[in-house]
Amino acid sequence: MSAETNSNKSGRNRALDRGESTDVADLHAAVMRERPEPVEGMEPLNLWLVVFIAVLLFWAGSYLTHFSGGFRADEFAESQINPAPPPSAAGDGADDPVAKLAREGAGVFAANCAPCHQADGNGTPNLFPPLAGSEWVVAEGVNRIARFVLNGAGGPIKVKGMDFNNQMNGFKDQLDDKQIAAVLTYIRNTWGNKASAVKPEEIASIRKELAAVTTPMNPADVEKLPVMVGGGAAATTAALTPDQLKEALKKLPADQLKTLLQDIAK
Ligand code: HEC
Repeated sequence: MSAETNSNKSGRNRALDRGESTDVADLHAAVMRERPEPVEGMEPLNLWLVVFIAVLLFWAGSYLTHFSGGFRADEFAESQINPAPPPSAAGDGADDPVAKLAREGAGVFAANCAPCHQADGNGTPNLFPPLAGSEWVVAEGVNRIARFVLNGAGGPIKVKGMDFNNQMNGFKDQLDDKQIAAVLTYIRNTWGNKASAVKPEEIASIRKELAAVTTPMNPADVEKLPVMVGGGAAATTAALTPDQLKEALKKLPADQLKTLLQDIAK
């Protein structure tokens, strides 16, 4: 307004009115103060919407990290979801109990264990210990690993010479004795592992023993337990060195020793 007036009557020596100015910056101050007309589609976003989108992106990212299956093309292939149970020593006859139990265990494994220990049983370095070739898994009995699966595990653990110190939740409330026996039989007989089948009764007895325990098992404590469920005869014999055995035999009366040796020689 004032600019217009000014240029219209710009008599060269006209005296300025009071408050009037010829400073261009001053004259445009009002114009500069105005915000530009908003352009449709460029309105600023609501802050909450921005926060919501940020949270959504974060969630989507972590979802992908956990469930993308490594973007493998064969992630959902039948062979990944239900890896073929290993052929058992007795051939893979349909009625072989080890093979049957392992087949059931494959499904339990895929649903409950594979996210951490991986479908190939190799785990993840520094995070999740391998089950393939693990000395814990293929031990003669499952007294130790059944405790991990029932109650969970936490604390330093050495597997195949590698150190881990992480946490695994127990499956006491999710899996019944038969499912745990099946999944243990599966991991003991897959990826080249070879060990005996696991009986649901074995799991039941350990479950009873751990009924009052709610915390995850410390591997250092578990390692002190016998590998056989119930600390059975095998553990006792294994603890006897040949020298100890010789000493024990020497204590036998000669005639009993003779019958014993004859018995063994039969
Ligand atoms: C959340 C990830 C996670 C899941 C799911 C999980 N584990 Fe584990 N598992 C671990 C971690 C971590 C350890 C080592 C714990 C430690 O550091 O003390 C472990 C240890 C073990 C061990 C002893 C160490 C070894 O590698 O031999 C066995 C056996 C085992 N898990 C079996 C299973 C079975 C069977 C299932 C499914 C029923 C399962 N785990 C599910 C994370 C997991």
